[in-house]
Amino acid sequence: MTSFLTRTADGTFQFGHTLGKKLAAGDVLCLTGDLGAGKTLLVQGAAAGLGVTETVTSPTFTLMQVYETGRLPVYHFDLYRLDAPMDLHNIGFEEYMGGDGVALIEWADKFPAAMPEHCLWVEINRGRETTERVIMLRPKGERYRRLGEELKESADSGAGYCHAGV
Ligand SMILES: Nc1ncnc2c1ncn2[C@@H]1O[C@H](COP(=O)(O)OP(=O)(O)OP(=O)(O)O)[C@@H](O)[C@H]1O
Ligand SMILES: [Mg+2]
Repeated sequence: MTSFLTRTADGTFQFGHTLGKKLAAGDVLCLTGDLGAGKTLLVQGAAAGLGVTETVTSPTFTLMQVYETGRLPVYHFDLYRLDAPMDLHNIGFEEYMGGDGVALIEWADKFPAAMPEHCLWVEINRGRETTERVIMLRPKGERYRRLGEELKESADSGAGYCHAGV
């Protein structure tokens, strides 16, 4: 596990941006955290880092949104309103995992068993101040452990986020 701290909304966007630049085809990010934690903001940063030029909005009602203007296709999911794992199957969820694009999944913890074995769990929690967030990375698989290490190396005050532990 690796944690990072952001002190502003822009810091979380920048963290996402740096992560997005490092993403490769087939990558899967499983995002967790309360309502308003900053999952969508991190996704917006990651999409920008991947070169997506469209406006990225929360796909709460559509469940999934595809963005194809970046370096790789982005499959953005929001599972908040999904009731049953079967619904995931019905939207063809599995086909988007490990494919030609990157999958960014908000509320992934609602259906943990449906997530691929290898993925990066990203948990966002509120910090002490109202605009502080602690971003915890739990990598499943060597590729994601390396990504976490790279993010540690790029962290400092100028990056918008700092390394907060482990
Ligand atoms: N350090 C911070 N990081 C992220 N967001 C922050 C931070 N400080 C303040 N905010 C604010 O918190 C809100 C995060 O909203 P966002 O939609 O990204 O959350 P979410 O986790 O996707 O919520 P939901 O579960 O409703 O989808 C934004 O209004 C943002 O401006
Ligand atoms: Mg959201």
